[in-house]
Amino acid sequence: MTDEVKISALQVMQDAPVIPVIVLHSVADAVPMARALLAGGIRMLEVTLRTTQALACIEAIAREVPEAVVGAGTVRSRADAQAAAMAGARFAVSPGYTTVLGQACCDAGLALLPGVATGSEIMLAREEGFTELKFFPALQAGGVAMLKAWSGPFFDVRFCPTGGVSLNNAADFFALPNVVCVGGSWLVPPDALAQGDWSRITQLARDSRRLRG
Ligand code: 3PG
Repeated sequence: MTDEVKISALQVMQDAPVIPVIVLHSVADAVPMARALLAGGIRMLEVTLRTTQALACIEAIAREVPEAVVGAGTVRSRADAQAAAMAGARFAVSPGYTTVLGQACCDAGLALLPGVATGSEIMLAREEGFTELKFFPALQAGGVAMLKAWSGPFFDVRFCPTGGVSLNNAADFFALPNVVCVGGSWLVPPDALAQGDWSRITQLARDSRRLRG
């Protein structure tokens, strides 16, 4: 866990229009990638726990890029939450929601942006204190139409649609009052990482800053 002031899920969502969903296979990429996103105006970085190097990457970013706020994505268990916090993550993003996970993130001092795809999942997360949620997988689970339908019964919940969101369709999501930001992997393309093309990542970040009016 970090000594830094605890951040909230809403702060994570409001900082920029897009939360980049990042998959890193090499620790060497972590710091230059984080600096490239920062240069483009993106500070909230979701490094997914999908590779053997993910925790080491979170650690490197937390240590060497203090202007960024590094979080862990693909957090699915209490062990994931603990490991992420130990590595220096300040927030967690999960593909679904369980009571155990909500409690684990709370215990670890991590803000949690829990994933939901149904009304029952929203109701459980809300009952347990989470009103800022990731809608995942957004496109596959109903996209803009689903969020419009939810805006009635879940008028007090705000979403970060993630999964299938891109520069091409993000504006449709931002037109909705219950969308604060979107998540997406397009800011850090695998080929840009492979080539060390940091300026391309900076440009993608810059372009994404213009998405929310
Ligand atoms: C994921 O889990 O990989 C995220 O939802 C990102 O989805 P995307 O690649 O469609 O942006």
